[in-house]
Amino acid sequence: MAARVSLRTNLAGIQLPTPVLAASGTFGSGRELAGMVDLREVGGIVTKSVTPRPVKGMPTPRMAETPSGMLNAIGLQNPGVEAFVEKDGPFIEQAGVPVIVSIAGRSVQEFAEVAVMVSKIRGVVGIEANISCPNVERRGEVFARDPVAAADVLSTVTRMTHLPVLAKLTADVTDIVEVAQAVVRAGAHGLSLINTLLGMAIDVDAFRPRLGGVTGGLSGPAIRAVAVRCVYEVSQALPDVPIIGIGGVVDARSAVEFLLAGATAVAVGTANYFDPHATVEIARGIGEFLAAKGMSTPEDLRGRLVTPSRPQEPVYLGG
Ligand SMILES: Cc1cc2nc3c(=O)[nH]c(=O)nc-3n(C[C@H](O)[C@H](O)[C@H](O)COP(=O)(O)O)c2cc1C
Repeated sequence: MAARVSLRTNLAGIQLPTPVLAASGTFGSGRELAGMVDLREVGGIVTKSVTPRPVKGMPTPRMAETPSGMLNAIGLQNPGVEAFVEKDGPFIEQAGVPVIVSIAGRSVQEFAEVAVMVSKIRGVVGIEANISCPNVERRGEVFARDPVAAADVLSTVTRMTHLPVLAKLTADVTDIVEVAQAVVRAGAHGLSLINTLLGMAIDVDAFRPRLGGVTGGLSGPAIRAVAVRCVYEVSQALPDVPIIGIGGVVDARSAVEFLLAGATAVAVGTANYFDPHATVEIARGIGEFLAAKGMSTPEDLRGRLVTPSRPQEPVYLGG
């Protein structure tokens, strides 16, 4: 008899209708897409990162295509938290989709400020701390590259809100597990893995970088294998911590890779630019995959990865 499939997912106490969210920066707050997509079919929306004050962002061009990936240097452009609460707050309150607000800042204090304000919006179900931004108090060092600075943000933000807090990490580090352990010890309820990878592309005819910001964040299928490896390593070290797997999810099978690696849910970024229905289609596809395997929930896939019984030495540099 075919198993009855339910896609409902509990992510750090946040109830999602499906395990497929829209990743930060690619769906706004959902307001822009309300007419195009039935938001009730979206697992959840992580908003564009919000900072205390408005940010104009980087010079153009801000996007460049690369093989299997996209480079962007938007520069956290956003209207600032006051305008966000005023304009997006009323939408979020009645959106009918779980909304996680992504927050960013240049100091621990700035993160705290934004966390307090967005926690007042009814309908917000969680906070994602985007700690892949420069810390002005430490010579511009990116928070997420330093376990101590990353933990500082998470211990403060978790004290400022009643909501579950996820820490969004970067893979541009030597050991992502060390940073993950530090933020969980500091109080993070879950992890979002990963943000874009730092990249660069050059127009060889013009002798110029293809992005106005020179370097930018690489996303899309080009980063999937790195993201899956990060989710796997972190979930092996922290098996009880819920993880959103992010990076190159474009269809149900790529989403299932993340669930098998140990993620509880996935978030879709770049694929939304090609098809705004991607989150809905991918969730549907996961349902079909589960049914075909005789499984009933996405949770059934977690930890089902079959790895060699003898622990392998990590292999570096293709060797
Ligand atoms: C245009 C664009 C804007 C983004 N803005 C943000 C942002 O504001 N905050 C954040 O944490 N991540 C941001 N991201 C990163 C995505 O949330 C995601 O981590 C990354 O793109 C990898 O997923 P993907 O390969 O599915 O795109 C952005 C990505 C893109 C492509």
